[in-house]
Amino acid sequence: MTGRPAAWVAAFVVGAGTLGIAQKVIGPEEFDRAMKTVGAALEAAEEALGSASYGDAKTPLALSRQVLASTRPEWEANGVPDAVRMNREAVAALDALDRVLSAATVDPAAATAAYDNVTRACDACHAAYREGDPETGYRIRSAPR
Ligand code: HEC
Repeated sequence: MTGRPAAWVAAFVVGAGTLGIAQKVIGPEEFDRAMKTVGAALEAAEEALGSASYGDAKTPLALSRQVLASTRPEWEANGVPDAVRMNREAVAALDALDRVLSAATVDPAAATAAYDNVTRACDACHAAYREGDPETGYRIRSAPR
């Protein structure tokens, strides 16, 4: 290790990028891919929650949280503070759900309520900033409702 700290740091950054940690989403295609990942991960979590497999729900939830957070700089770069706020709220709702699922004994009603808060936070942004696109299914709304 001595004498080569820069190479070590670079390797770590590349590794973290592969895991989707601290990675920025840039451009509509990447944003779309990110959202599809968030959606698929949340579906997997919902399935696990449905069968009360709370531990199993945590991994896809962590993934969706990480990828959703990585889309925030896109809104910041495009100057959409309202969407930045909704992104923060959705990430916070995912964190709150993770806390509920981290309890020694998970309260099923609290888990359902926390999950509903997550989907509400997703829907709030979709209602304002998502619109149907005949080619790609969905796209970012150019002007919010
Ligand atoms: C800050 C705004 C915002 C938040 C929060 C948000 N989304 Fe999205 N999402 C969008 C926009 C804008 C689109 C449409 C653009 C696109 O699909 O590329 C979208 C599209 C999607 C799509 C469709 C992708 C496709 O094209 O098939 C899914 C699935 C999705 N989001 C899931 C989620 C889930 C699940 C959450 C909550 C955990 C969430 N989103 C939170 C803005 C947001």
